[in-house]
Amino acid sequence: MYHRFDAIVVGAGGAGLMAALQLAQTPGISTAVISKLYPSRSHTGAAQGGIGAALGNLEEDHPEWHTFDTVKGGDYLVDQTAADVMCHEAVESVYELEHYGLPFSRTPDGKIAQRRFGGHTRNFGEAPVRRSCFAADRTGHMILQTLYQQCIKHEVNFYSEFQLLDLVFNDGVCCGIVALNIKDGEIHTFHAKAVLFATGGFGRAWKITSNALSNTGDGVAIAYRHGIPLEDMELYQFHPTGVYKLGILLTEGARGEGGILRNSEGERFTERYAPTLLDLAPRDMVSRFIYQEVREGRGINGGDFVHLDLTHLGAEVVEKKLPDLADFVRTYLGLDPVRELIPIQPTAHYAMGGIPTDIDGRVITGEHNTPLPGFYAAGECACVSVHGANRLGTNSLVDIVVFGRRAGRHMARYVQETGFTQLPQKPDLYAREQVGQLLARETGESAARIRSALQEEMMDKVSVVRSEEKLRAAQRTVRQLKEQYRHVAMQDRQTWYNSELHETMEVGYLLDLSESIIAGALAREESRGGHYREDYPTRDDVNFLRHTLVYDTPDGLQIRYKPVDLSKFEPKERKY
Ligand code: FUM
Repeated sequence: MYHRFDAIVVGAGGAGLMAALQLAQTPGISTAVISKLYPSRSHTGAAQGGIGAALGNLEEDHPEWHTFDTVKGGDYLVDQTAADVMCHEAVESVYELEHYGLPFSRTPDGKIAQRRFGGHTRNFGEAPVRRSCFAADRTGHMILQTLYQQCIKHEVNFYSEFQLLDLVFNDGVCCGIVALNIKDGEIHTFHAKAVLFATGGFGRAWKITSNALSNTGDGVAIAYRHGIPLEDMELYQFHPTGVYKLGILLTEGARGEGGILRNSEGERFTERYAPTLLDLAPRDMVSRFIYQEVREGRGINGGDFVHLDLTHLGAEVVEKKLPDLADFVRTYLGLDPVRELIPIQPTAHYAMGGIPTDIDGRVITGEHNTPLPGFYAAGECACVSVHGANRLGTNSLVDIVVFGRRAGRHMARYVQETGFTQLPQKPDLYAREQVGQLLARETGESAARIRSALQEEMMDKVSVVRSEEKLRAAQRTVRQLKEQYRHVAMQDRQTWYNSELHETMEVGYLLDLSESIIAGALAREESRGGHYREDYPTRDDVNFLRHTLVYDTPDGLQIRYKPVDLSKFEPKERKY
């Protein structure tokens, strides 16, 4: 089936909806959002603790301080102009969300409430500051609902439960996508003047993750398969407080409200590592503190987890400010967070790397940042490089609203000035062949088994602490799994609601992305932010203060580099 729209947005999380809203508000532009989920189930809804913006509602704050914290938190691998744009536009974006109807929590005098989050400080690192604007611990959920309602109001066309299969180019210009209607297995071609990927992250490459089942990096992998080099893929964040063994996120907002991490001796161990910010040091550091406590035998009952202690906060704070957390702990652990300690461990949470873009969401390729006409990306799938080597908590929601909005506005101008590029002959050929082969193969390897083996290996060898030995072993495993994947076969070969079909394709994406993560991690022989190499335990600005680009070429993976924008703050040692 063929469709034609001026603009196509793939993904219905915060970045996609924000972009779609800009397009829909521009007269004369037809816009469609393609999403493999029903929009309000998108993973933005899982973001809990808040969106950072220097509103200064409770104490003095400035966007410039927010920029500094973002750059320092990212261990100086942040592109500083982009971070500055984000932190300044965060303020108006939050007020815009408020005017769209987002029900923020409030101060007693009716302003948007703000709380502490890791790495957010006043006056360039002096002491913690309350910068995170929140709607209890359902901030992402509220953003998603609010933006979806606005999109409905502005008559955006939605194609829900359509799985992306391919991106279409003609003569170097992006001119559409191919997607599969999950309901009946029919393949659709969407012709467009411009396409935005807002397809989210790929936390499902790891066994313990806060990410939804759908976070399999489809858009990132499809761009990569089209020869677009991926940026900084080795920089992946582990959030310190996932539910033990399950990975479900327990918001950093809990520590923002005064929650404390304790080891088997009941000690607040962050005092030894980060005397100023304590439990609210940046996430990469807190995850490593936990790793260290466990390694030195101070995990709970000798195990690989520690406790989050909220028992001193009182029932009112927990129930009013952290109601979802309380619910998760009761439901999944059978514990009462008001009275009992909560077992937690670091959980794979967020990709700092992805599809390279500029500050208007235009996809750029190579060492010289060459724009690819008609192709945009925003949100977690994109790397505008505002998070560097470690994202600060709350900056993912800032990223999606600020850069979703900028990308949507740029796209609107672009489609107004540009005609349709003709589709190539048989634009859906590759997608049809790919699906056809999977549906036809009767015997072979199981995708579910390959996925479990991948997730185990990534968790064991490509997580909080890495080394050449572990990474080389993981590389061998992923290569073997890729070989097995070439012979993958499904039990369900029907076309309607075939979840095995789309899960099988997702495993292929995860394998490609894991290979690129490992390649980048092997090449980066230093420790920076979320990438900690025990064989290279220090940051090396002489050799590695640069962005990694991984290319998938017919001769294998190639690594190249491009410079970091250091236009505002000079790199310094990170101390908290
Ligand atoms: O801890 C949290 O609430 C997560 C927020 C984030 O990843 O920014």
